[in-house]
Amino acid sequence: MGDEVKIKGFQNLRRGCYPMLTLVMAETALETLPPEIWRRRDISRQLAEKKLKPEDILLDRSYHHKAMLHLKDAERRGRPDIAHFSTLEATASPLYLKGLLKFYLHTYTNKVIELADNVRLPKTYARFEGLIIKLFAEKKVPETGTTLMQLTEENLSELITRLKPSKVIGLSKLGEKNNFRDVASLLSLEEKPLLVVGGFPKGPFSSQVREALDEVYSVCDMSLEAHVVVARILYEYERCISLPC
Ligand SMILES: C[S@@+](CC[C@H](N)C(=O)[O-])C[C@H]1O[C@@H](n2cnc3c(N)ncnc32)[C@H](O)[C@@H]1O
Repeated sequence: MGDEVKIKGFQNLRRGCYPMLTLVMAETALETLPPEIWRRRDISRQLAEKKLKPEDILLDRSYHHKAMLHLKDAERRGRPDIAHFSTLEATASPLYLKGLLKFYLHTYTNKVIELADNVRLPKTYARFEGLIIKLFAEKKVPETGTTLMQLTEENLSELITRLKPSKVIGLSKLGEKNNFRDVASLLSLEEKPLLVVGGFPKGPFSSQVREALDEVYSVCDMSLEAHVVVARILYEYERCISLPC
């Protein structure tokens, strides 16, 4: 076999021919109910009805809109669907299936979720929520055996320092004008590229995240949903490296 990477269902890839891309969803709106709203009557009623603790539920604007009104950065929080959709897109891509994409979710509360290779996430949202709640509680899933997802407490700069990429490129509507194809090409020229897409619903990256990025590009005149950006940039990156599919 020599320097070939054997991946079930695909032709063998020669190690070194294809650069590994790292994709980080930054400031993802994924967290359990924050303590500031635990005592609200609507929240405690909801928890009592379902016999749940605050750590058993993800903050979700579609259920907790009223409670979120006075929460700091409310417009950037409570959208766990963004993490779900974007992770499904990334892990269904040929790049990931061929073992050439490392995927991380960095969250609003500075937790980092690392996905192992070959992870199949639940497509049903309720099951996804259950998995994330378990991960938040136990720091890895499954608890024993081969780890599929693990959680560390880190901010984005700390994650970047740990991963040591050759370049960190962020995507934002407020970045320098560019397009999917050319950004993908820039990434493909790097030895160890790291791409950052926001996992939040509105607004720019926080200044702390912005400072961790080497370059920031806008790829469209419109503000697109994160999972659309993930799907398109991965597709263009696959084309740039001529990934056989
Ligand atoms: C729902 S958007 C957040 C919206 C925000 N207006 C922004 O600055 O891009 C989620 C993420 O998708 C990416 N994104 C959305 N539209 C984009 C665009 N036109 N150019 C580059 N990235 C974009 C960014 O990474 C953004 O953080």
